[in-house]
Amino acid sequence: MSAGERFYTAIQKLGAHPRPKRLRFYIEHQFLRGIDIVGKRILDVGGGYGLYALYCITHGASEVVVLEPQLAGSRSDTQVMFEALVEAIRPERPIRLVPEVVEEFVATEGGSFDIILMHNSINHINEEACAVLDRDGAARGYYRQFFTHLARLSRSGTQLVVADCARRNVFGDLGLRNPLLPSIEWHKHQSPRLWGQLLEEVGFKIRCIDWTSPNILGKAGRWMLNNAVMAYLTMSHFRLVAEYQGEGKGNVSV
Ligand SMILES: C[S@@+](CC[C@H](N)C(=O)[O-])C[C@H]1O[C@@H](n2cnc3c(N)ncnc32)[C@H](O)[C@@H]1O
Repeated sequence: MSAGERFYTAIQKLGAHPRPKRLRFYIEHQFLRGIDIVGKRILDVGGGYGLYALYCITHGASEVVVLEPQLAGSRSDTQVMFEALVEAIRPERPIRLVPEVVEEFVATEGGSFDIILMHNSINHINEEACAVLDRDGAARGYYRQFFTHLARLSRSGTQLVVADCARRNVFGDLGLRNPLLPSIEWHKHQSPRLWGQLLEEVGFKIRCIDWTSPNILGKAGRWMLNNAVMAYLTMSHFRLVAEYQGEGKGNVSV
């Protein structure tokens, strides 16, 4: 069995995702669509139990580092699941878990990454700051500094792939629970346009912003719903791809 097959088998066996087939569609046709991970050194910021990192290392990445502060200290569910998945999948290439926040990691990390992933983690970096990012200078300063850390881990051409919910959604605006995403607190999110502006301030160039469609609808759903209006009426979940155009570590002032 190939490492890629072992990935999906382990996900199913350990219950790491409720619907592995839809996960495959999501990763291949939405989150990582058009991103060439083969031979790449990848950093997964706020990687949780390593779902996307493990996908990458079993599908051609040369090395993956998972930054996940929740994996520090006592054994959490996140840590137990990460270790169980690694044991079941037995990746052939290195996947390293670093139980730190980016701010600590950037101080010690020497090399640069080809791809940086932030899957549903950008707003968790500082939820309070994120909530007021569109109107508060200090909050903007906080995230600008955070993105500067990402720039320091990048080289010219590094791709940053961010996925998250945007701020505006028809259900949130009407004060209703979104049946597709019932736990989302919309006021703790921001629009991809705002994230893009902040990223451009530190040397990233926005390559594309896509809107996620419900995986159950497959490619037809992507075709019909990949626009801001349909996203607003459904999940308001986006994927933003940016490319770093500066020089990286040592050339970015914090
Ligand atoms: C909602 S989880 C997303 C997990 C995973 N990426 C996924 O989509 O399944 C957000 C994660 O961001 C992590 N996080 C929060 N602040 C961070 C920071 N400063 N540096 C790295 N990770 C951070 C949290 O510990 C949390 O596990």
